[in-house]
Amino acid sequence: MFLPTVAASPKLLLRRCLGVLQRVLCLFLQVYRWTRGGSEARVEGSPEERLRQGATTPTSVNYHFTRKCNYKCGFCFHTAKTSFVLPLEEAKRGLKLLKDSGMEKINFSGGEPFLHEKGDFLGKMVQYCKRDLQLPSVSIVSNGSMIKESWFHKYGDYLDILAVSCDSFDEATNQLIGRAQGRKSHIENLYKIRGWCQQYKVAFKLNSVVNTFNVDEDMTAHVTELNPVRWKVFQCLLIDGENAGEAALREAERFVISEERFQGFLDRHRNVSCLVPESNEKMRNSYLILDEYMRFLDCRRGRKDPSKSILDVGVKQAICFSGFDEKMFLMRGGKYVWSKADMKLEW
Ligand SMILES: C[S@@+](CC[C@H](N)C(=O)[O-])C[C@H]1O[C@@H](n2cnc3c(N)ncnc32)[C@H](O)[C@@H]1O
Ligand code: SF4
Repeated sequence: MFLPTVAASPKLLLRRCLGVLQRVLCLFLQVYRWTRGGSEARVEGSPEERLRQGATTPTSVNYHFTRKCNYKCGFCFHTAKTSFVLPLEEAKRGLKLLKDSGMEKINFSGGEPFLHEKGDFLGKMVQYCKRDLQLPSVSIVSNGSMIKESWFHKYGDYLDILAVSCDSFDEATNQLIGRAQGRKSHIENLYKIRGWCQQYKVAFKLNSVVNTFNVDEDMTAHVTELNPVRWKVFQCLLIDGENAGEAALREAERFVISEERFQGFLDRHRNVSCLVPESNEKMRNSYLILDEYMRFLDCRRGRKDPSKSILDVGVKQAICFSGFDEKMFLMRGGKYVWSKADMKLEW
């Protein structure tokens, strides 16, 4: 049947051949994704598919409850696009929903989390998560500039880990990056906070973004002296609408470095055992990010697409729009000893 028909029409023969070629290509793509570990195929599934498969558990969540900041880091990928912060009771309601859905670790981030109500809003959430929700791990990532000793005195007991960001041990480089407020020393402050962490029994962590301004620096001596429980080293990442593209508040293109230069930085610091590297690939979809409205942010398309708020539709519905790649989360070592009770720290 087929042969005589196609022989009679070269056009039909061409169309059939193209159809076969298309199917072969699709099959090839599918096999390619499977052999890469299936992570892309899984992440690309539609939200409905993800819901059918059973929603992801929000084991470790990053809540960027404010976008406001007192620093001006030129590469920042979570900028002050709004000044909105949820009322405390609403934020607590959301945190309880997350706990009931399986959350074990919460990380408070921003903007600068110690800015809103001079850190009291943050302190009350930290206290609620540890004392009332009994979460195994409560952590904060901060630029450190607004932290007072009185905060540790009041809330230190409820905090497992404090991460402070520092991209350079040269003040001039910090000024160039924008990681500074006026002429205040970011580095002196970092050392002061390190001391308070020890005094108030909070695990100290360090975060650095490798970019064009610090890529040739050797930070080994300072990091060894500070002795953090983890040193997260990020390759500077671009996110459309945040630090790249027309609607963005920052233009981070001039901070971006290649894979090779990032690897050079890692090689120079190979003797620092607490170093945890995060390339762009590892970082992009391996964080569950909640914004100031408690919406999950999906970074798969190179920008931050928001879900509906967990306060309106619940965690199970909203998380299907998070774009979260659980496999990459585990691969980048996202699950570690994150409760200070389980750490062998020298207090
Ligand atoms: C957005 S900040 C918010 C918390 C706080 N203001 C701070 O700087 O630590 C959270 C973390 O993201 C890092 N970060 C910001 N922009 C980045 C970028 N473009 N690429 C990689 N990491 C980035 C910061 O250095 C910080 O460690
Ligand atoms: S990375 Fe810099 S600008 Fe962005 S929130 Fe943190 S301190 Fe502020």
